[in-house]
Amino acid sequence: MLTGAGMSAESGVPTFRDAQTGLWERYDPTALATPEAWAHDRDTVWAWYRWREHLVSRAQPNAGHLAVSRAQDRRDVTVVTQNVDDLHERAGSRRVHHVHGSLFAHRCDTCGAPLDVGPPPDDPVDRLTPPGCDRCDGRARPGVVWFGEMLPHDPWEAAVDAVTSAAAVLVVGTSGLVHPAASLPGLAADTGLPVVEVNPGPSGLGPEVSVHVRSTAGEALPALLDG
Ligand code: APR
Repeated sequence: MLTGAGMSAESGVPTFRDAQTGLWERYDPTALATPEAWAHDRDTVWAWYRWREHLVSRAQPNAGHLAVSRAQDRRDVTVVTQNVDDLHERAGSRRVHHVHGSLFAHRCDTCGAPLDVGPPPDDPVDRLTPPGCDRCDGRARPGVVWFGEMLPHDPWEAAVDAVTSAAAVLVVGTSGLVHPAASLPGLAADTGLPVVEVNPGPSGLGPEVSVHVRSTAGEALPALLDG
C-alpha cells in the first residue's frame, strides 16, 4: 500500500492540497518546509512543526488505518506512507515505511544525532527556539523530509522493493503530485501489477491506475480489506 495525507483526513489531520483546509492552502510551504526556511527563520519553522505534532497527538486512527492493521494480521501487507504522522502505527500496523520521515523523529540539524525533545506545547505559538543538541552546538530539527531534500535511503529502498514485488498496489489518499513518491504507482504498473486508487476526488495519477475507487479511506478500506 502507498498512503498519503487523505489516509489521515478522517482523523482530523489536515491534508496539504484540499481546497480551503489544505495546509498549503493556508501556509506557504517555501517558508516552512524547505532547508532555506529553516536557515532563514528556524524558530517559526520549529513552532509550526510542534503545532502539527500537537494536532496529530490529539488525533485518533480512523477506520481506514484500523482496516490496514487488520489486513496486516492476515496478509503480507507492506505500508509505504508519505505521511509523517504515526496513525498507522497507533492503529497497530507494523512494516510501515515513512518515505517523507516522521514528525516524531527529531534530530540534530548539524550532527544528525536523534534527539528527545519531549511533548509539544499544548497551545500553538508563533515562534519557539528548538532545544540544543547534546553532542554538538546544533539544534533539534523536525524529522521530516523538506522540499529539495533527499528521501531517507532505507525507507525508499523498501518502498521500491514493495511496489515492484507485490501482487497488487493499493494507493490511498494521495494527490500523486510530489516526486519521487508519486512515481511509485507507475513503477508498479510498469512491473505489470494492478494498481487500485482510493480517493474521493481527482488526483495526479493517471493511466498507471487500473481501478479508481471514488471513496474515502474510512469507507473503502474496511470494504476492500476485510473481505
Ligand atoms: N480518503 C481518501 N483520500 C482523501 C480523503 C479521504 N478521506 N480526503 C482527501 N483525500 C485525497 C484528496 O482528494 C487528495 O487527492 O487525499 C489527497 C491528499 O493530497 P495532498 O494533500 O496533496 O497530500 P499528499 O498527496 O499526501 O501530499 C504528498 O506533499 O507536501 C508534501 O510531503 C508532503 O507527503 C506530502 C506530499
